[in-house]
Amino acid sequence: YKVTWDAVSAERGGYPHFMLKEIHEQPKAVRDTLRGRIAEDFSRVQLDELNLDDAFMKAVDRIHIIACGTSWHAGLVGKAVIESYARIPVDVEIASEYRYRRPLFTPNTLVIVISQSGETADTLAALREVKRQGRRVLAITNVVGSSAEREADDVIITWAGPEIAVASTKAYTTQLIALYLLGIKMAHVRGEIGDDKVRELLKGLEDLPQATEQVLDTAPQLERFAQRYVDTMDTFFIGRSLDYSVAMEGALKLKEISYIHAEAYAAGELKHGTLALITEGVPVIALATQPDLYEKTVSNIVEVKARGAFVLGMTWIGNEDLEKTVDEVIYLPKTLPELAPILAVIPLQLLAYYAAVARGNDVDKPRNLAKSVTVE
Ligand code: G6P
Repeated sequence: YKVTWDAVSAERGGYPHFMLKEIHEQPKAVRDTLRGRIAEDFSRVQLDELNLDDAFMKAVDRIHIIACGTSWHAGLVGKAVIESYARIPVDVEIASEYRYRRPLFTPNTLVIVISQSGETADTLAALREVKRQGRRVLAITNVVGSSAEREADDVIITWAGPEIAVASTKAYTTQLIALYLLGIKMAHVRGEIGDDKVRELLKGLEDLPQATEQVLDTAPQLERFAQRYVDTMDTFFIGRSLDYSVAMEGALKLKEISYIHAEAYAAGELKHGTLALITEGVPVIALATQPDLYEKTVSNIVEVKARGAFVLGMTWIGNEDLEKTVDEVIYLPKTLPELAPILAVIPLQLLAYYAAVARGNDVDKPRNLAKSVTVE
């Protein structure tokens, strides 16, 4: 008697790597994380699991978001969302820095920790220190029963399901969902956005699972583009505002698994130094998903093109204008600009994945990295 199927490949659901499987699970992960959290008539966010009441949500006057790695990148998007909707000042901090500083609190500071595993040592240490000082902590985590889940006062679970690949993918997109829901809820409770805007945003969120499904169709284009990375040592990801936050996550993904030096740069800041590194043929990934900053970003793309960069641009479907400036374009389904990060990150995950495969790397277990860093 011989077992003819391979248990590991069965676990991978037919995908060659967990990372690719997890990238493709994002429509479901996003749908599961939204489930039950949007009122049927789109009138309000239902985060009924929170102990935070409306009075506290109204009183919060400062937020510290603490996290590591990809979760920290999610926090950067969270800051933009919370500040622009709820109008609460937000600091996003790397846990290993935060815990050794003397952070400033106001009486009603809310601390949010983001951790896929809920077990990252530095994040937990920061959580514990903040709790020791009697502060209120909300955790966003993917693991029920994790330390972060048990020790925080409030928890938003991301229903991404188990993430096996070291490079985080579906955890990030679902962390963004949690932050959008929280930001919209706080903004609504505080009267900073009205019912119409809430409805618009919630409908936008509801459309995301379908839109993420569509973005996955860009995979063959990214697989082709990734061949450029077989012999490349350096690359740059540029964008402004939300696109810059996503660029940082894209650069991290590529570094983690392809071992290519990748740097994310705020597009408008290029000319203050990094432009000196752009030479003939250097691949640049340019995110241009934000209509209000589109022209500004295009002018930065022109700057890198003028130095010989080979540019892969990313923008919304229908904006063929970008083809005039870049070498290749990835089109994202139309969404509200503020929700674009969830879609824009997916092609970058695919790019990192295919670059790592093209270079023959161990995609799911990159050298020197661990899935959960439980040491300091
Ligand atoms: C490790 C993982 C990353 C992850 C980071 C934070 O470095 O390799 O993928 O983003 O830890 O993990 P956490 O579980 O706290 O989100």
